Amino acid sequence: MKVLVTGASKGIGEGIATFLGRNGHQLGLLARSEDLLKQVQERVRNEGGEAEIQTCDLRDPDNVQKSIESLIARMSGVDALINNAGLVIRKDAFEISLEEWRAMMETNVHGLFYATRTVLPYMKEQGSGHIINVSSISGHTPLAGGSGYAASKYAVTGFSESLFLEVRNHGIKVTTLFPGSVDSKSHRHDPTEDTEWKVRPEEVGEACHHILTTRQFNLISKLEIRPLRKPS
Ligand SMILES: NC(=O)c1ccc[n+]([C@@H]2O[C@H](COP(=O)([O-])OP(=O)(O)OC[C@H]3O[C@@H](n4cnc5c(N)ncnc54)[C@H](OP(=O)(O)O)[C@@H]3O)[C@@H](O)[C@H]2O)c1
Repeated sequence: MKVLVTGASKGIGEGIATFLGRNGHQLGLLARSEDLLKQVQERVRNEGGEAEIQTCDLRDPDNVQKSIESLIARMSGVDALINNAGLVIRKDAFEISLEEWRAMMETNVHGLFYATRTVLPYMKEQGSGHIINVSSISGHTPLAGGSGYAASKYAVTGFSESLFLEVRNHGIKVTTLFPGSVDSKSHRHDPTEDTEWKVRPEEVGEACHHILTTRQFNLISKLEIRPLRKPS
């Protein structure tokens, strides 16, 4: 499948790109950091996969539209969009600044919508497509110490589950993905921290591969992936 992945420069997005690239999907990878995107592209290609890259700031609607249209033109189409990019700012309502609050909403909520609205006309025209929205456990369960993050992810969940109802009869699938703790290197505070218990980014990619490859008339509309054990 021709799959666009936002936030593919590191963390979960990189894991998704790695797993999907290995499993025969043609990838279009988006993020702001060109150097990191090039490294991910090289790794996918070294393993025999195909990947185009495009820098993009999700907070800018014109930039999102042009970036995604450019990737779709280079890939000669789009079958799926994985809205993975997100800012994780774990601060409570006493601590979080206005700039941090806005940046998180603009990236996690507005940016996800800008990307979605760009691919929808292509999918409607072809009568098929799949959008996977990466929410979080904090997109359905309150998070003390991260009220702004939870607010942004509850918005993703509400949008994603409602979007499913709006587009299903156009043949477009929508899946809301709820990861628990995933071992994204950028979130490690201490490099010696034990992260063995966490879900690995590529395992989220494996879940996406499964979600994308169900029978045409069958949809996994929600999927929660989380570590079996909590750290002791
Ligand atoms: N890690 C977890 O435990 C966990 C759990 C549940 C849900 N999630 C969700 O999973 C997603 C990925 O998280 P992660 O842990 O992989 O985080 P990460 O390692 O910090 O990666 C975030 C990605 O988003 C991109 N990004 C951020 N702001 C952007 C912007 N304005 N425009 C374009 N791209 C932007 C980053 O690329 P650039 O900086 O290069 O732009 C990067 O590729 C997020 O939506 C997060 O909420 C994570």
